Amino acid sequence: MIGLPLDNQPKNKKYTIYGVITLIVLLVILFSTNLFNYLKIWTTSIPKQSSICPLYDRIAPESYYKDNSTVLDILYDSKYRKQSIGKLSGAIQIDTQIFDNQPDVEDSPETWEKFAKFHKYLEKTFPSVYENLEVTKVNTYGLVFFWKGSNKKLKPVMLTAHQDTVPVQKETLEDWTYPPFEGHYDDDSKFIYGRGAADCKNVLIAILETLELLIKQGYKPKRSILAAFGFDEEASGVVSASKISKYLQDRFGHNSIYSIVDEGPGLTIDNDLTGTIIATPGTGEKGYVDILTELKTPGGHSSIPPDHTSIGIIGELSYVIEKDQYEPILTKSNPILNYYQCLALHDPKDKISSYLKKVILRSGFDKFANSKLIKIISSNRLSKYLIQTSQAIDIINGGEKANALPESTKLLTNHRIAIESNVESVKDHFISRVIEIAKRHQLKVIGYDKKEIYKPGKGEKVLGEFHVSVSSNPLQSAPVSPANDKVWEYLSGVTRHVFEELVYTNLTYPIISSPAIMTGNTDTRYYWNLTKNIYRYSPFFLTSFIGDTGIHSVDERLPVDGHLQLHAWFYQYLQAIDNEKADNK
Ligand SMILES: *[C@@H]1O[C@H](CO)[C@@H](O)[C@H](O)[C@H]1NC(C)=O
Ligand SMILES: *[C@@H]1O[C@H](CO)[C@@H](O)[C@H](O)[C@H]1NC(C)=O
Ligand SMILES: *[C@@H]1O[C@H](CO)[C@@H](O)[C@H](O)[C@H]1NC(C)=O
Ligand SMILES: [Zn+2]
Repeated sequence: MIGLPLDNQPKNKKYTIYGVITLIVLLVILFSTNLFNYLKIWTTSIPKQSSICPLYDRIAPESYYKDNSTVLDILYDSKYRKQSIGKLSGAIQIDTQIFDNQPDVEDSPETWEKFAKFHKYLEKTFPSVYENLEVTKVNTYGLVFFWKGSNKKLKPVMLTAHQDTVPVQKETLEDWTYPPFEGHYDDDSKFIYGRGAADCKNVLIAILETLELLIKQGYKPKRSILAAFGFDEEASGVVSASKISKYLQDRFGHNSIYSIVDEGPGLTIDNDLTGTIIATPGTGEKGYVDILTELKTPGGHSSIPPDHTSIGIIGELSYVIEKDQYEPILTKSNPILNYYQCLALHDPKDKISSYLKKVILRSGFDKFANSKLIKIISSNRLSKYLIQTSQAIDIINGGEKANALPESTKLLTNHRIAIESNVESVKDHFISRVIEIAKRHQLKVIGYDKKEIYKPGKGEKVLGEFHVSVSSNPLQSAPVSPANDKVWEYLSGVTRHVFEELVYTNLTYPIISSPAIMTGNTDTRYYWNLTKNIYRYSPFFLTSFIGDTGIHSVDERLPVDGHLQLHAWFYQYLQAIDNEKADNK
């Protein structure tokens, strides 16, 4: 008996050794592979409800329960529809094309005269608006309508759009199904055609139709209503929205506005993941910076060239820039993460695999899951740049003659800056690559503030100079608007009401609002000081925004149903938020 434990000892030891080896092997497997990371994903649970993307109740204005006929007429009455087509068509018929780099109004009044004609049209078409509301003209053609509410404690709500359109290229005139300034309504397709039909005379007209209708009905708002329309949004809003913003800040102050609803995405069907109709108000915008690089080198005869001309060196710089793409980045501050979370949490047809849902739900805090999601988003060119700073070499010029060396070569690089990044880091990164090239070719670098920031070492001859500058007004990425407060709740609640109860009455699932970002910029770039609740949002249904509307191109068009949906939404929204319950506490 005494000997027994001793007899067993070697066996025990053996087990212990096996145990330790197994443990080591397991640990090696766990840490050298991603098994541990996958385990964490597999064991994640998918909540039924989450504060990350709550589903809010439908919200309808009180008036709707007393009498729903007006909003139904907007959507379905054939006489009203005809009238509405006429109003939008008339607006398209007045040419308000604008071009880049336009002079200011006082420097060149004739450039802008066409907007006087547009104003006349609006005045004739919306007489009640002009008779009853305060109309202010900012910088001659900027329009601000103010409808004073009876309760001073409620911050005004602001609806915006722009009067101008992008130009129609002369060479493309032949390709239009209907002439771009005819405002033709095609009864077969139920689309209205023309420049500005979708970007965005439709929004401007829908806002004015809503105000006209409310005034005629004797509506008396408690919350003041502002409508603001710039006239050079397509040329960055320098001449109009920037001044409208200053006017509004001077008059109402910072943080004085309840919400701003500007042009933007609306409702669409998410074919990639859930296969359901979703609303995607834009809560953010990427930043913007154009960087111009000029390389100056001595000229001379091309029979005795240096090994590298300024064109060759700029070519090398271009190569270095394109080889070095920005890293994608997706953090909680990017609305796109919230967008995917909303889809993962609201997938009524259960189309997304539970693995992908778990990856998405962990992406805000789990590096491994985050990298998986980034890979998915980046694999699609359309979504890739929602999470990555883009760089596009758009303009290059240099050289004049076959027998003369180029003395100056210029390169313009456009950047759309990711939500998590900023203008300064893009500028810094850009110039580091210029310095890299300068070192290879004995060149000086003159930086953004015209100071020399690099020169070749002592004894090295300076063979030329880089001049790097920012060539248009840079823009930081926009502050991200809330997607979880009262203002958002009303925006999404009214959307549910209009589209579930009035438009798609046979839907079997709720319409969720998911935040989104714009890769382009709207007039809202000037309105950040007025409110944190800025939504680039035009709630009407399109299967594909670009494909269905041809915006900025040939055959720009708009489904008239969509126009009426937008009008109905404005009508319900203005009334629904007309009380203190809609305010953030
Ligand atoms: C509109 O109101 C009428 C009469 O009260 C009611 O019968 C009808 O169901 C309502 N329609 C909608 C879409 O709410
Ligand atoms: C709902 O109605 C629309 C037409 O109004 C139809 O196209 C669609 O298929 C219907 N959906 C369901 C789920 O019945
Ligand atoms: C916002 O307010 C700040 C501080 O007053 C001011 O410097 C800035 O120019 C304003 N921005 C815009 C776009 O008006
Ligand atoms: Zn627009």
